Amino acid sequence: MTVRDPDELTIPPDGRPAAEQPKWRRDFPIDVPQDQYVARREFTKFLVLTSFAFVAGQAWILAKSLFGRRSGLPATAIARLDEVPIGGFRQFDYPGPGEPKLLVRLGASEVVAFDQRCTHLSCPVLPQVDRGRFHCPCHEGNFDLATGRPLSGPPRRPLPRVELELRDGVVWAVGVTERTS
Ligand code: FES
Repeated sequence: MTVRDPDELTIPPDGRPAAEQPKWRRDFPIDVPQDQYVARREFTKFLVLTSFAFVAGQAWILAKSLFGRRSGLPATAIARLDEVPIGGFRQFDYPGPGEPKLLVRLGASEVVAFDQRCTHLSCPVLPQVDRGRFHCPCHEGNFDLATGRPLSGPPRRPLPRVELELRDGVVWAVGVTERTS
């Protein structure tokens, strides 16, 4: 007698041989080992795909941290410098509509700009210039006004920075740098 692989055996749930099973069960056999075998195979496939997705995600984060600057973005005039008072700010969209950014004038010729979307869950941050921070009211997150780095609350990643150039008294946005730390 040939001993078959247990994974290939069909065992009725009550353990009796197939010839003693009722007709309905013979017509619709329940192949438990085969069923479990498929389940194990599916689970293995799931593990492999999940691992691949995890590795791909880590590679994507690494690539973004190494090559964070979004290149090829258009240079866009935001405002004349003298239109924004020291300690004041201006909201603008860059590089396109629906991508809100904040320009803050920190000094006579010192301006910074960051993405307005909180890196926690994308609520809009608000500048609190007198406290030197961007504040996110959703979960009390705070970012440094000059660097965009997280100071407190849930956010762990800095706000993406808008690269600026001052040309003949006009502030231009020329790129965006996304950072992971
Ligand atoms: S969305 Fe900003 S702290 Fe949660």
